Amino acid sequence: MKFSLCLVVFLVLFLFESSNGSNNLILQSCKEASKSDQNLSYDFCVSSLNDASNKTKLPSNLEDLVGMSIQLTKSNGTNMLPIIKELLKNLTSDDQYVKACLQDCFDLYKDSLSSLEDAVVAFKSKDLYSANINLSASLDDSITCEDQFKDKTGKTSPLTWENHVYFQLNVMCLAFVQMLNQH
Ligand SMILES: *[C@@H]1O[C@H](CO)[C@@H](O)[C@H](O)[C@H]1NC(C)=O
Ligand SMILES: *[C@@H]1O[C@H](CO)[C@@H](O)[C@H](O)[C@H]1NC(C)=O
Ligand SMILES: *[C@@H]1O[C@H](CO)[C@@H](O)[C@H](O)[C@H]1NC(C)=O
Ligand SMILES: *[C@@H]1O[C@H](CO)[C@@H](O)[C@H](O)[C@H]1NC(C)=O
Ligand SMILES: *[C@@H]1O[C@H](CO)[C@@H](O)[C@H](O)[C@H]1NC(C)=O
Repeated sequence: MKFSLCLVVFLVLFLFESSNGSNNLILQSCKEASKSDQNLSYDFCVSSLNDASNKTKLPSNLEDLVGMSIQLTKSNGTNMLPIIKELLKNLTSDDQYVKACLQDCFDLYKDSLSSLEDAVVAFKSKDLYSANINLSASLDDSITCEDQFKDKTGKTSPLTWENHVYFQLNVMCLAFVQMLNQH
């Protein structure tokens, strides 16, 4: 009797765990990733992945999570291109410096997107080393876009928030790939 009660409790806990497994995967992975890289906020990580997994499917392992985060980063970066184009069109003052920076950002985001394409290919062929290089290049592009505005005093970047989001998405991809390397 005692034994079967134990068994029932065990089964209930087990079923609860597995139905909740994917969500736990996101929570656990984000916890580990945000610990390993302080540039990644835990809340950002969880909310981005929850949104993404609603739209596609729940990730069942760390590999899924890497694939999902790269796709998420790619779609975020792709959406940046028309935003930058519109900012360029909206420039009222003939501010050549901001204009040049925005044009650079447009090219940087395009470069970043092709790095992400290569990261997907590398990741699919289990070449984590190259995936890591490509993701790092993509990460650097978002930093370069933001930093060039600071090169001239008095200029503020109209993309600070967007660059920061994109930076964190890239940090998240990198952290997951590094976790995969260690597991
Ligand atoms: C956070 O990002 C900066 C670059 O913006 C980098 O120099 C620093 O090492 C990163 N910190 C961590 C904890 O990864
Ligand atoms: C995703 O699902 C969660 C819980 O199921 C819900 O709270 C959230 O609003 C959903 N997000 C989107 C973007 O649909
Ligand atoms: C990028 O992702 C963030 C966080 O999920 C979202 O708020 C933002 O709207 C996205 N930006 C673009 C350009 O898609
Ligand atoms: C560009 O200007 C239009 C009209 O003023 C505005 O609705 C839009 O939000 C602006 N776009 C950006 C990216 O700032
Ligand atoms: C991705 O990394 C590989 C391996 O280092 C490199 O050959 C390739 O040029 C990179 N792709 C991009 C777009 O930088």
